[in-house]
Amino acid sequence: MTEQDNILNSSQPSLPKYRRNILLVGTPGTGKTSLAKRLTAVTPLTHIEVGKFAEEHNCLGSYDEQLECFEIEEEKLIPILANFLKPGGYIVEYHGCEWLTSCKIDLVLVLQTETAPLYDRLKARGYSGRKLEENMECEIMQVILDEAYGCFDKQKIWVVPSNNEQDLEDTVERVKKFLESSN
Ligand SMILES: Nc1ncnc2c1ncn2[C@@H]1O[C@H](COP(=O)(O)OP(=O)(O)OP(=O)(O)O)[C@@H](O)[C@H]1O
Ligand SMILES: [Mg+2]
Repeated sequence: MTEQDNILNSSQPSLPKYRRNILLVGTPGTGKTSLAKRLTAVTPLTHIEVGKFAEEHNCLGSYDEQLECFEIEEEKLIPILANFLKPGGYIVEYHGCEWLTSCKIDLVLVLQTETAPLYDRLKARGYSGRKLEENMECEIMQVILDEAYGCFDKQKIWVVPSNNEQDLEDTVERVKKFLESSN
């Protein structure tokens, strides 16, 4: 077997099946980072957190006291991110997807967590009062799911439970199969 055969037979990020971009969305605390970390451990995909990416590319605006985070200058960020994602091979994490429609996204995972575990996770993070209520309401009202359906082709969207370790494992296996099958 030649060296080229070896390369073609191995799981290199440059192979077409890993040139897909996966978008992970969901209410804060539903487990996007946890899933992304698990996926990057078993595939050649690279994790991008949109907030961090915005910071690294000088696309942060002023601090929003109510939301307790910096605003993202979307108009500046979108073309940079869209260009960055063109080759594929990324797992993109953001809570919503409204302004990511111009990016190359092949699969959208909407993570969902039941009320009790999500409440515990957000409490453990120190969320309280309005911030806790708003996030719980966002999940109960399926705000992110509605947004995803309004932004992307239904066939690209998977709604995945994220309540426990088994859910996480099941999703990793599903995504691996998707990547293996989509040449
Ligand atoms: N499937 C799961 N089962 C049990 N606990 C989980 C699961 N997924 C995530 N968690 C736990 O929930 C907490 C929040 O997870 P994580 O930070 O991955 O959420 P997130 O969606 O990335 O949040 P954010 O929107 O703030 O970035 C962590 O303590 C993590 O260990
Ligand atoms: Mg996260």
